[in-house]
Amino acid sequence: MSRYFALLPAAGVGARMGADQPKQYLELQGHPMLWHAIRAFDAHPAISAVQVVISPEDGWWDAYDWSGFCRLRVARAGGASRAASVLNGLSVMDAEAEDWVLVHDAARPCLSRALLDKLLDELSADPVGGILAAPVADTLKRAGEGGRIQETVSRERLWGAQTPQMFRYGVLRSALERAGSGVTDEASAVEALGMSPRLVESDRTNLKVTFPDDLALADWLLSRGS
Ligand code: C5P
Repeated sequence: MSRYFALLPAAGVGARMGADQPKQYLELQGHPMLWHAIRAFDAHPAISAVQVVISPEDGWWDAYDWSGFCRLRVARAGGASRAASVLNGLSVMDAEAEDWVLVHDAARPCLSRALLDKLLDELSADPVGGILAAPVADTLKRAGEGGRIQETVSRERLWGAQTPQMFRYGVLRSALERAGSGVTDEASAVEALGMSPRLVESDRTNLKVTFPDDLALADWLLSRGS
């Protein structure tokens, strides 16, 4: 029987947030953002272990109490890119080629149990795996010079990729080894192997906290117990 592992890369600095601490440690509802991302998986009975990857220079992790989590492991193995951090996390995990790995951004603290269940239900029998994603709602513009619109991009069949991104351990490891550091998500590395990951429809509550105003929205969603 294949097992399910969560892998949370949390070695970024969150430069776009402009805060004086890495964004995964910014406080939401009395806990660092990363705590909420871990909890979504640690609380799920199907998940065997939750592997977090932090930067070797991380001076924040030890300041918090993580003892309430029973399946949590941490590796000070962050790399120069998200892809490198994920690959380093995979290399310390005790997983078999056919086990599933759910890679999730530390900066998505509002993942609901319902969305995680939906991803597991829809992909557990899938030959490739896939990702949570939401159809693009806005009309998209490509910027040109001087803050002016260069062109309008059709949003037809466009989806915003979210996480978790769920793939077999063996496939994901070889995909990332081949892809190099340029990929910004796991699916694109798997796509480069010629496979077509499934899109599992999500919603915008699973937001990625990137800019300062995302933080208040995430705090409000967590206060509702989403
Ligand atoms: O910067 P961005 O929000 O795209 O990062 C997505 C996730 O990848 C975050 O959880 C961040 O901590 C992680 N990351 C990482 N190692 C890096 C860069 C980003 O683990 N070198």
